[in-house]
Amino acid sequence: MSRIIEIDPRTLLILVGVSGSGKSTLVRRFFPETAIVATDRCRALISDDESNQAVSGPAFELFYSIIDKRLALGRTTVADSTALRAEYRTALRELARKHNFAAIVLAFDVLEELANQRDRGRNRRVGSLVISRQTDAFRNSLPLLADEGMDAVYTLGPADLDALEISVRDITTGGDGPFDFIGDVHGCADELEELLKQLGYVNTAQLTYIHPEGRRVVFIGDITDRGPRSIEAFRIVLNMVAAGSALFTPGNHCNKLMRWLMGHNVHIGFGMETTIAEFDSLPTAEREEFRQQIIALVSKSPAYLMLDSGRVVACHAGIKEDMIGRQGKDVVSMCLYGDTTGETTAEGLPVRRDWAANYQGWRFIVYGHTPVRTPQIRNNTINIDQGCAFGGWLTAFRWPERTHMQVPAYRVYYNRHLPALGQDERFGPEALIPR
Ligand code: UTP
Ligand code: MG
Repeated sequence: MSRIIEIDPRTLLILVGVSGSGKSTLVRRFFPETAIVATDRCRALISDDESNQAVSGPAFELFYSIIDKRLALGRTTVADSTALRAEYRTALRELARKHNFAAIVLAFDVLEELANQRDRGRNRRVGSLVISRQTDAFRNSLPLLADEGMDAVYTLGPADLDALEISVRDITTGGDGPFDFIGDVHGCADELEELLKQLGYVNTAQLTYIHPEGRRVVFIGDITDRGPRSIEAFRIVLNMVAAGSALFTPGNHCNKLMRWLMGHNVHIGFGMETTIAEFDSLPTAEREEFRQQIIALVSKSPAYLMLDSGRVVACHAGIKEDMIGRQGKDVVSMCLYGDTTGETTAEGLPVRRDWAANYQGWRFIVYGHTPVRTPQIRNNTINIDQGCAFGGWLTAFRWPERTHMQVPAYRVYYNRHLPALGQDERFGPEALIPR
């Protein structure tokens, strides 16, 4: 079965592996020659000999310099070297950071014997002594890679090399509008269906809505938990995405649900217990189908969406201006959880910085995550989480009209046992009275 690695165009792909492990051979299948910056090529460019170890200093200077210049121009780049020492990988990761590129490692885990065999079969031979030393260095590097601050690390076994596909695609681009942004449904499928009808979407099949004028909903995460119909709420999202009438970017609750469905250990709280109860009562076949569909959708969806030629950005919890266009871990964390400080309040809630108060960008940002009483517009941003499951409202923000439409919660589904977060406009217990 083939394995597909999808990368954003703004990626520095860092190859790690011994000589003869097949690094150059693999990347030539997917990238033009100019996108692959190789240390052996740099040796040749300055000394006419690609195995000339005496020119390592200037060859590496050239290597980093070409990469630096390519990233400055926004070009997808492959760093083709053995990168068996942490300091070399750090230097490459720093270059990626400097240009707001994702740093993604492909580690070539092949047997020493195979590397030797391949080395013997080519013109530029490095010899078994070198390969043996490099193999030790590779074995030592392998367990370190995950903690080196890379955005992703893919370890490739010999079987992967033939079957692997690398696809470069801007997964954040969702095309042109008009759009209806809806966030933080939190299991309130009744209100969602009512809102979709009010927006002019037509119910074409069970739990499926399509707009006759081609409008699309952009779901900005947190579809489940707290409300009474979490599974059906997510079915509406799945069906509409499949029908092309909706786009989706995940929230922290989506991410946690996916991890739970994958068998990971997650904290079951903050309303997730309601979704799990619904899930457990599904017939076995439906449960498995739902499980697979959620994992496929959430794992493939970008942390944020750039829409209408980048004029509007949709994400669950927020994004900073310099993160737009990037795919790094910090970006994903910001989009899912907001600008957290790492501390928690006495009630166990993460402390969040008010990123929107400082947002200076020209792109309009639609987000949710922290419920506020009314759609809150500040600095080219709008928070459309009006806490439906807590008895507030389910909001749709319309683009390019910049208007909104709301359906009030039919009842209070979930009492926020945690106090308000300190700011007037945030949801407190007094706001839980149905309107
Ligand atoms: P590469 O030249 O791709 O290895 O393959 P590398 O990892 O980039 O090595 P260095 O670090 O630059 O030295 C080595 C040989 O193995 C063959 C290639 O044709 C090449 O001659 N090869 C590679 C295969 O036969 N099958 C493969 O899947 C990969
Ligand atoms: Mg090579």
